[in-house]
Amino acid sequence: MGIFNFLLDFDFKVLFLFIFVFIIIADFLKNRNPPNYPPGPFSLPLVGNSFSLVRKHPNKYFSKLADIYGNLCSARIGVFNMVIVSGYKTLKEAIVTQADNFVDRPHFATGDRVYLGGTGGLFMSNGETWKRQRRFALSTLRNFGLGKRTMEQSICEEIRHLQEEIEKEKGEPFNPAGLFNNAVSNIICQLVMGKRFDYSDHNFQTMLKYMSEIPRLQGSVWGMLYEALPGVMKHLPGPHNKIFSHYDAVLDFLSQEIKSHKKDLDHSNPRDYIDAFIIEMENHNESDLGFTEANLALNSLDMFQAGSETTFNTLLWALVFLIKLPDIQDKVQAEIDGVIGQTRQPSMADRPNLPFTDAVVHEIQRMGNIVPFVGFRMAANDTTLGNYFIPKGTPLMLNLASVLFDKTEWETPDTFNPGHFLNAEGKFVKKEAFLPFSAGKRVCIGEGLARMELFLFLVGLLQKFSFSVPDGIELSTEAVTGTIRAPHPFKVYAKAR
Ligand code: HEM
Repeated sequence: MGIFNFLLDFDFKVLFLFIFVFIIIADFLKNRNPPNYPPGPFSLPLVGNSFSLVRKHPNKYFSKLADIYGNLCSARIGVFNMVIVSGYKTLKEAIVTQADNFVDRPHFATGDRVYLGGTGGLFMSNGETWKRQRRFALSTLRNFGLGKRTMEQSICEEIRHLQEEIEKEKGEPFNPAGLFNNAVSNIICQLVMGKRFDYSDHNFQTMLKYMSEIPRLQGSVWGMLYEALPGVMKHLPGPHNKIFSHYDAVLDFLSQEIKSHKKDLDHSNPRDYIDAFIIEMENHNESDLGFTEANLALNSLDMFQAGSETTFNTLLWALVFLIKLPDIQDKVQAEIDGVIGQTRQPSMADRPNLPFTDAVVHEIQRMGNIVPFVGFRMAANDTTLGNYFIPKGTPLMLNLASVLFDKTEWETPDTFNPGHFLNAEGKFVKKEAFLPFSAGKRVCIGEGLARMELFLFLVGLLQKFSFSVPDGIELSTEAVTGTIRAPHPFKVYAKAR
């Protein structure tokens, strides 16, 4: 009996050892880099460099790799053997000069599960469906007011609501995140579903909370483990499951909106993106180029996710920097007082007359560095980038942070300096390396809207209030881990002017 047990035990040990060695060899062969592939750190079998990524802040880890290995380097994160593209010139070569080679996004486990196998939505989709959906979204953005007074009016109306809400705090310290999120999301609501939600709407607040948590969970260790081992992780309990329950809840909320839009649709008078999409759907076969109801919900979700988190967190960074630099806050207020005064609502026509304020908004976006790494692109063909070989199918990570802090492009890359965007006469000047919205064929579709929102919201807030923090509090410029760089929660005083 003892000998039998020993043999059984022994056989299993050999079998396990054999399987282990086989997996390691298969993993090595599968992930062997071709000659002249961008250099990178040694990576462990199976997990690659995932542990280093998790140990450090992911953003810091990628930036450090670029410092050590250069503007084109590689790392293996879970299943992805990816190339990290850094620095203005190299990044521009990839996404502008070689736009067609790097326009697609690779598949993600999370994206595949939520976005119809990676074929749905505006962000994850590729090919003809992406082109058609992107064009349709852009034309709807234009039709419903981007670049027209209507969107500007919606933003100004929302600023009034926000100002009233802040006044209710009566000068007591409050956390601005929830209010800013609701205000900015209401702009996307107007565009997508033709209405706004009150700041006390419990149901909407819950949706916003879920949408804020999703990028944080995706950027967390649990989110990364899911990406690396989806087949295993989907059966295990853990916070990663919240990613999917949150997505389901938000998509359900949007589907309800789509249903009620269908009930009172007037074909001759589309009110918003949902109406326009439903009308367009009637010209297409089921599943033709993504004109389906399921995809309408996913596209709407993308507008919220891409449009709200980014913009409201930039406004939070604005408070962080202006509170840390009260002289700059004073100077912006003085410029606004001189040009608009404290009672008239701001408009986009004021922007050319407020060069310092405009420069400050740009510098907030640069230092806020809200999307430090653009969710992947993928090489469509074997190609050469820099002097390196990039095989077809390689995922690329675009290090936008390295462009916004590129030492060869900015005078004082690590210091808040509105002078980056001003000439000697104090006039606003554009900078080529200012790429918070990325560039090329997949450049952010909401850039125009976001820039309008940031300018009007910031002017509207500083016109009415001076912001500070309770004595002894030092605001941090470090961010919470996640795919979007959000500041740590903080409370502010808003003193009426
Ligand atoms: C401060 C605000 C914003 C920032 C910093 C920002 C930044 C970005 C970045 C870096 C990308 C990735 C582009 C690439 O892959 O190269 C992107 C994509 C996208 N953004 Fe924005 N964004 C902002 C606001 C908005 C708004 C308001 C909307 C809504 C209309 C929006 C909708 C999108 C969409 C749908 C995409 C995917 C485009 C595609 O893959 O074709 N964004 N954004």
